[in-house]
Amino acid sequence: MKRILVEFAHPAFQKSRINKQLVDAVKNMKGVTFNNLYENYPDFFIDVKREQQLLSTHDIIVWQHPFYWYSAPALLKEWMDLVLQHGWAYGRDGRQLEKKTVISVISTGGRREIYCREGRNHFTINEFLAPFKQSVNLCRMEYLPPFVVHGAHTMRDEEIPKFAEKYRKLLTLLQSVQLDKDKLSSVEYFNELID
Ligand SMILES: Cc1cc2nc3c(=O)[nH]c(=O)nc-3n(C[C@H](O)[C@H](O)[C@H](O)COP(=O)(O)O)c2cc1C
Repeated sequence: MKRILVEFAHPAFQKSRINKQLVDAVKNMKGVTFNNLYENYPDFFIDVKREQQLLSTHDIIVWQHPFYWYSAPALLKEWMDLVLQHGWAYGRDGRQLEKKTVISVISTGGRREIYCREGRNHFTINEFLAPFKQSVNLCRMEYLPPFVVHGAHTMRDEEIPKFAEKYRKLLTLLQSVQLDKDKLSSVEYFNELID
């Protein structure tokens, strides 16, 4: 069974509606380590050695966060800046993350329809995620299509558990199944491959 590390970044988790339920669905799963970055590092002083150790002992890394300004909350960027060091994560001798897999799990306020050329946000989610994808490539890892929960603000309470259940299924799938490259390249979001 592959070991999964959830790197969770939400600066206002106490007010969360979506991520709260997503986290509750997976944090105690067998083989899943839940790492709450804002809880561990409220002052932004990241323990780089601890984080690198965690990465080394897991096969799949999940970056779970609400979409903030078309990107991730600041602490996840700080984490990338400090933890993904040259000579460790990338560069000629930086091979510690080689062959691991990364997936972004994000919630957005905006509905799916507005994330396209003609829509209000003009770009797709995958276009906004390009820096994450290329950072993963640089570290010789594989970046999967993201799991996305759109329309957080207009979503009715009774709709949220469906996504929480899907997220749990996603992690179960990632733990046990060899992913089919053709299938992965045929979808925009990983959501489409779970049922
Ligand atoms: C500072 C900030 C920036 C945000 N930026 C975006 C954004 O760029 N695109 C978007 O669709 N929603 C944006 N949102 C909405 C959040 O993504 C949304 O509130 C969150 O996904 C809901 O999840 P939660 O219930 O777990 O907090 C933003 C919210 C905040 C507070």
